[in-house]
Amino acid sequence: MGFSSRLGQSLTAKEILDLVKDDLKKVEAELSVESVASVETVTAIAQYLQSAGGKRIRPILLLLATRMAGPVTPAAIRMAAIVELIHAATLIHDDVIDAAQTRRGRPSTNAMWGNHMSVLAGDWLYMQAFQIALRERNFHVLDMLINLTQMMVEGELLQLERIGKIGVSEADYMQLIDRKTACLFSVCAKLGSHIAGADDAAENKLGEFAWNLGIAFQLVDDVLDFTARETILGKPVGGDLREGKVTLPLIYALETAASEERQMVERVLADRNYDTVPFSKIHRMVERRGGIERVRERAKEFTERARGLIAEFPESPYQRALAAVTDLVTDRDR
Ligand code: IPE
Ligand code: IPE
Ligand code: MG
Ligand code: MG
Repeated sequence: MGFSSRLGQSLTAKEILDLVKDDLKKVEAELSVESVASVETVTAIAQYLQSAGGKRIRPILLLLATRMAGPVTPAAIRMAAIVELIHAATLIHDDVIDAAQTRRGRPSTNAMWGNHMSVLAGDWLYMQAFQIALRERNFHVLDMLINLTQMMVEGELLQLERIGKIGVSEADYMQLIDRKTACLFSVCAKLGSHIAGADDAAENKLGEFAWNLGIAFQLVDDVLDFTARETILGKPVGGDLREGKVTLPLIYALETAASEERQMVERVLADRNYDTVPFSKIHRMVERRGGIERVRERAKEFTERARGLIAEFPESPYQRALAAVTDLVTDRDR
């Protein structure tokens, strides 16, 4: 697991994981069974990504949400597998779009199998997720998943529209991360809650909790793109700007940047590489202008909001675990 184990809250990362460890094993088994297609390449791609690890934060969130309201049933295990399959599909497509070469510390699927096969494998995984969901015969579940998938596609589209542009606003950025990341977090919590039989009010409140957590998660992802070490992160550092993405740390830094500093950023956006302006110069500028610090603060605001919402639920080990997950998100190094 890539979470640092120090926590301000009473539960450590290990204690949180212990609460869902057995459930997670079942989710892994479900993922393996459900990743088999009649065409070998699809199976190979799906298993390649699954076996590379990943933090499994979305299934963990879903399982903890379930446990807050009731026992983890086979249906809940299936829901947890569904969200990880959807996540995997979006990662495969995202790496094709971003032409990313590394994912989870290994060559990305597009680097291994090429774009064409990766796109199709991603499509297959999406449909596999819906196939499993359909077995529940539950329209609320399908409704959430279909809406979610459309939102995530919209997020990637909004991102593409802004690619290479230096003038991305904070509002644009927030709209984008809502769709590409926070919505899935919210759906994880809602699905977990719903499948355990919680009422609509509880489901919605837990969804709101996870939405705030998801926003913080993406804010931190975008900070880590500047500050992390590639060997720990498992994907390239400095990748966002090289891919033409102006994220919040940079948006904040640009507010007070001098014209030479702005020109450095424009150069990288035009070149899509760090040959003329090394990444270290961009990183130092973003640090100097307070971009990293400010985004970390923003992330804390969202996790605090999340903690406020989870505090409204009756106390239980699972409720405390969800409260502690907020620290994992802000303190993580990958
Ligand atoms: C990566 O998600 C995509 C983002 C929303 C930033 P994760 O950081 O959860 O990726 P894995 O599953 O651990 O590889
Ligand atoms: C999150 O965006 C992507 C998805 C929602 C799939 P990023 O482009 O920031 O994700 P990484 O950094 O490639 O994991
Ligand atoms: Mg990407
Ligand atoms: Mg990223």
